[in-house]
Amino acid sequence: MIEKTTHQFLTEHPGMKYVFFGGKGGVGKTVLAGAAALWLARQGKHTLLASTNPVHSLTSMLDQDVFGTPTLVEGVDSFYAYEIDTKDTIEKSKVEIRDKINWFLRFADIKTKADEFVESATMNPAFEESAMFENMIDLMFEDEYEAYVFDTAPTANARRLLGMSSVYSMWVNKMLKSREEAKSLRELLSYSKKKQEKDPLLEYLLQFRERMGQAKDLLTDDQKTAFFFVTLPEALPIAVIKRFIAWFYDFGIPVGGVVVNMKIEEATVGEDAPDFVKNRVKMQEEYMEEIWRSFPDVRAVVPLFETEVRGVEMLERTAQAMFG
Ligand SMILES: Nc1ncnc2c1ncn2[C@@H]1O[C@H](COP(=O)(O)OP(=O)(O)OP(=O)(O)O)[C@@H](O)[C@H]1O
Ligand SMILES: [Mg+2]
Repeated sequence: MIEKTTHQFLTEHPGMKYVFFGGKGGVGKTVLAGAAALWLARQGKHTLLASTNPVHSLTSMLDQDVFGTPTLVEGVDSFYAYEIDTKDTIEKSKVEIRDKINWFLRFADIKTKADEFVESATMNPAFEESAMFENMIDLMFEDEYEAYVFDTAPTANARRLLGMSSVYSMWVNKMLKSREEAKSLRELLSYSKKKQEKDPLLEYLLQFRERMGQAKDLLTDDQKTAFFFVTLPEALPIAVIKRFIAWFYDFGIPVGGVVVNMKIEEATVGEDAPDFVKNRVKMQEEYMEEIWRSFPDVRAVVPLFETEVRGVEMLERTAQAMFG
């Protein structure tokens, strides 16, 4: 049985501001993120549904172009949707990195072209992820909305995205330490007594650490942030979120609960239904048992609809099933 519904959970957390949906590929993260954003907007909150996923699907789900700029969803007050242009962010980050590397090479008197370093730094797949992470926290810091629902990349990326704030701060601390060592070494070796020039790299790192610290504070605040995990009544999606939930507890990222999606409603399956449907219903029943046993915090069970979920009307139905 559901002990606390999504509705009750959100009512108990009136300051909830950053909502995420994680889970295996294809389980309905985008759809449930859309439904949650719609519901929050209907509650009167100025809401942004943002996709930081390099493969976007909001435009298709909403049947409305929301790429590149936050766009008011037709027919709903206060509901904005936004697919972030990842390419654009990556290009911008490349330029920034080039500037920094150039500065560093000059500083260290190294006569190498920055390009090689830039390429190797940005070819790294983690670069795209960190650009996405930066996009996300930029939005959070701009603070223009009362609620944010993020449609993040599937599977492990979501955790890495958030875990990154810890990794970042460790990395930055290390960098800062070596910058400081280099600086004092330079001062020791320096014959001239002229004051050291400003160190923009050091300043950048300090600023970066500050930003990451703030992001971490927001993302681990259980009054403001909740990560919901989506599963189907099937083996693999259950296994995936079991892992996720354990990771998230380790990282101290607040878990909002589990939403079960695409459950076939038994009442709709008559005696004359084809065997494969009956078998599926039985299979789902068995996995539902496992779900009740494994997750104490199931918040909603959303039925499998007769069609895919597209357009505001279908989202409305999904929100109804999710929030009652
Ligand atoms: N309850 C439901 N009933 C019927 N169709 C659904 C339901 N939930 C989701 N769908 C459909 O299932 C498909 C996958 O959903 P969605 O795109 O939200 O999954 P996802 O987890 O975001 O996938 P990805 O991992 O690729 O981002 C979509 O076509 C969506 O319309
Ligand atoms: Mg999706």
